[in-house]
Amino acid sequence: MSKTNTEVQTALNNLVATHRVFTSKLYQHHFYVQGTHFFTLHEKFEELYNEATEHFDELAERLLALGGKPYSTLQEFLDHSIIKEKPYTEKISDTDMVSSVVADFRIMREELAKAIKLTGQSGDDVTQDMLIGYKTEIDKHIWMFQAFLGNNPLDGE
Ligand SMILES: [Fe+2]
Repeated sequence: MSKTNTEVQTALNNLVATHRVFTSKLYQHHFYVQGTHFFTLHEKFEELYNEATEHFDELAERLLALGGKPYSTLQEFLDHSIIKEKPYTEKISDTDMVSSVVADFRIMREELAKAIKLTGQSGDDVTQDMLIGYKTEIDKHIWMFQAFLGNNPLDGE
């Protein structure tokens, strides 16, 4: 396997691990969010953890199709995730939750951008197409959450 293919597989697997952790974080927000936006955000976080689960599955299955071995244990997910989790020990405001989702999306988007470049170099159009489609979705989520916070999409980058 070429160096680029190995790098693509590593990036995909990091994203697999990251999506498992991201899903847990979104559940945490879904459970603990409070305040006047409770109903909107409780539902929005649910929508996002469902989406993240679909992407987790899609990324892992694409990796399998490429001959790779997706991580499949909680320990591996924690070890390889590029975002970090934290127990809910003190109150987090609804806006801080949304800001943390924006920050996580940005970290994931960077890894996606890296993988998009690598798949371009290796001529893996199918994986590249999948990743570009997903990056478009993340860009949209970031814009919407930034709008919720009263920010422009690129603020704070
Ligand atoms: Fe629920």
